[in-house]
Amino acid sequence: MVEKKPPLAAVILAAGQGSRMKSQQAKVLFEVGGEPMVAWSIRLALAVGADPIVAVVGHEAEQVTYKISSRFGSVVQFAHQAKRLGTGHAAQIGMASLPHFSGTVLILYGDVPLLEAESLQKLAALVTSNESPVAVMSTHLTEPTGYGRIVRDSSLSVTRIVEHKDASPEERAITEVNAGIYAIDSTFLREALSLLSNTNTQREYYLTDIVASAINKQYKVAALAVDSEEVQGANDRSQLAQLEAIARKRIMARHLSAGVTFISPEHSYVGAEVHIGKDCVIHPGVHLRGKTTLGAGVTVDVGSILIDADVASNAIICPYSVLEKVRVNAATSIGPFVCLRPRTALEETSPTGNFGPIKKATIAQAGNVSHLSYITKTHTDHDIRAEAKTPSNNHNHLSKNSVTIENHNYVSPGLPQEVPTTVNNYSNLMEERISSEKILPESLAFATPRQTKNVAVPTPIREHLRACKAKNTNG
Ligand code: UD1
Ligand code: MG
Repeated sequence: MVEKKPPLAAVILAAGQGSRMKSQQAKVLFEVGGEPMVAWSIRLALAVGADPIVAVVGHEAEQVTYKISSRFGSVVQFAHQAKRLGTGHAAQIGMASLPHFSGTVLILYGDVPLLEAESLQKLAALVTSNESPVAVMSTHLTEPTGYGRIVRDSSLSVTRIVEHKDASPEERAITEVNAGIYAIDSTFLREALSLLSNTNTQREYYLTDIVASAINKQYKVAALAVDSEEVQGANDRSQLAQLEAIARKRIMARHLSAGVTFISPEHSYVGAEVHIGKDCVIHPGVHLRGKTTLGAGVTVDVGSILIDADVASNAIICPYSVLEKVRVNAATSIGPFVCLRPRTALEETSPTGNFGPIKKATIAQAGNVSHLSYITKTHTDHDIRAEAKTPSNNHNHLSKNSVTIENHNYVSPGLPQEVPTTVNNYSNLMEERISSEKILPESLAFATPRQTKNVAVPTPIREHLRACKAKNTNG
């Protein structure tokens, strides 16, 4: 029998401005590991099986919505909080967009990116097992100033959460703080949210007040303490930098334990969504960004930057190569110093030499683009060799087998498509010429460079010219 999972929804609070970031950009869009913080929360919700997922947006809502939708499509619903009246108000707005959901609701923040799926699952289990209608995530801090404190009675049961600004000196001495992540039964949550008031120092609707509400109803409130690193948020840029450092370490550890060699782990950068196959070797100064994927046994040498690149097994990316939205097939050598721009595909064993930008081009199997070539909007079939210093421009189709473009060619639109063709050294094939000439199969096509002839001047004329010059100078 297939095990039926208890229904889980996630409400992600992402409406705040984050004034201490000192930025026009919404705090939740600041990146950690190359991904906006809010994307981490959404991936976490997906990882624990939450469906539906609602993001409560407010500050810079349009931009936040756009960034989330472009990554996750229709997986995430949006609820708009026009005025930021507190976390309780944000949860009310989020829940209003889930009128029919019945089950456990996870409340997450859009600025807490390092929470682990395992911890969230444990938190949810405290509610789905009917132990409590509310489970709060907590952590212990030596410097708890600013956080809500978890207040417990003499039997250590949670009785309420008190915000720092509302706390007594004794309560401020408590070092167990509210991390702001909750699992809550949906029926209880709707009722508790309807009872919230803003009679507190900050005149805000506090989500934390649902804890006291549960206790009033004789329910037990569960608290799950986790490592403080997991629930660290980013209120300013210095905290953001700390999150970045932790995220980098974690990402690196994951790849190292999965069989990837980093020559100097602290000097390479790997984004959160990068996939690296076994036995890859990553040299110092390499940046792997976006959704880059490396197959097994790929070497990426010093200083190379790969963005959304798809590199198949055993390819070698030589030093200082930049690849963006590029597909490289197996066992292909790229670079050094090559710039492969979006929509370039290099098929099996098609090496590129140094200093060669290639853009919107397909270099098919066994093609070879040597150094100082510029290839754009070009598609080649098998065995194309664009040798040294070959610029090829605008919608060429270098077709079929055995086309060789040798040194110093400029290949413009309209290269003949018959085969085999050799375009020889120093040719300059422009559109007009090609279209007016029919270049036959198996022909050698090249344009003759303009000739300058140096003819010796006969002696009597030379002497006459010298005499005229002398006369002019003396006269
Ligand atoms: C909140 C908790 C506090 C806890 C702390 C942990 C309350 C009342 N307090 O305090 O107990 O220790 O988090 O970080 O809940 N947000 C909205 N709309 C709003 C207000 C906030 O979407 O109207 C979002 C923010 O974008 C942020 C999250 O909710 O992602 C938390 O808001 P924040 O203002 O940082 O709450 P704190 O005062 O830090
Ligand atoms: Mg906060």
